[in-house]
Amino acid sequence: MSLQERVAALEAEVKDAVAATAEDVERFRVAMLGRNGKVTALFDDLKQMPAEEKRAFGQRLNHLKNAAQARLEELKAATAGTAAREVRATDPTRPALTGFPGSLHPITLVRQRIVEVFSRIGYTVSQGPEVEDDHHNFSALNFPPDHPARDMQDTFFVEGPGSGADALALRTHTSSVQVRVMESTKPPIRTISPGRVYRNEAISARAHCMFHQVEGLYVDKGVSFAELKGTLDHFAKAMFGPDVAIRMRPSYFPFTEPSAEVDMSCTICGGAGCNICKHSGWVEIMGCGMVDPAVLSNCGIDPTVYSGFAFGMGVERIAQLIYRVPDLRLYWENDVRFLDQFASGAFRG
Ligand code: DAH
Repeated sequence: MSLQERVAALEAEVKDAVAATAEDVERFRVAMLGRNGKVTALFDDLKQMPAEEKRAFGQRLNHLKNAAQARLEELKAATAGTAAREVRATDPTRPALTGFPGSLHPITLVRQRIVEVFSRIGYTVSQGPEVEDDHHNFSALNFPPDHPARDMQDTFFVEGPGSGADALALRTHTSSVQVRVMESTKPPIRTISPGRVYRNEAISARAHCMFHQVEGLYVDKGVSFAELKGTLDHFAKAMFGPDVAIRMRPSYFPFTEPSAEVDMSCTICGGAGCNICKHSGWVEIMGCGMVDPAVLSNCGIDPTVYSGFAFGMGVERIAQLIYRVPDLRLYWENDVRFLDQFASGAFRG
């Protein structure tokens, strides 16, 4: 076979080369480009050639070498991982892969648990929009225009066509969903509404401009404050264990009358006094009250026939008592070193 014929045969061989595994690719490399490979050998022949032929033949050889290298890369890419796959298929004793597969966020874990506790006693889950109008976030809930309670909630207004009563804002609480449910559903109503809420607060370890709440609402004939207390006592014990106690303190919300703040015996120190409970033995976990008759009327429910109770809690607050996270900002930074700690998905109540 002449030199030209050998080159032509090798050109075809390179072009048609195939490989099923990484080992085949290596075999191809050694056969063509290795120290004793066929392409390498041709370069030795080049040295023997008369000077006038050297130039053209040298160019052709370089071309062949480049083609062989390009084909090698193609085959490598096509068979990448085949060796590993083969080992996995044939070696059942190989240790399992141990990548971090991701996990549910602690706030999700706690929200799911809260939903589970209330579902078991007949509560449905309802949702509403995060961009809300003045009616659902404030007016229907008995916040009169210019009432200072609107300032209490440091609202983020959304730029848009509306202003005044037509203004749109990021909801400051999930109580807006109460209004939507009552407007669209006939009693009996028993529902909880988990979701994100927004307030224009400076971000610190103890405050954030966005957080999560779960709102609760029960409306039927003859609903009493005693049932509210029983429901919340059941919730606290289901969430934190049978030894916790709750207490209620009179409070004020525009949409409930009477209103109360709910404290739970501190789960961190067992009531003995610590930093979390500010040495009182009690931690505040939510607001609640009997739905104000004016709110029922605003939503098309006859307050002479129906009564109801409502409550609202912060999910981060409940999570803090479970996981003892010292800084609220950790919930939003999504540092995997933080999230990794919740990877088991286990709920630690
Ligand atoms: N909306 C209140 C807040 O964001 C929490 C709240 C208090 C909700 C009392 C209620 C309630 O439903 O009855 O601070």
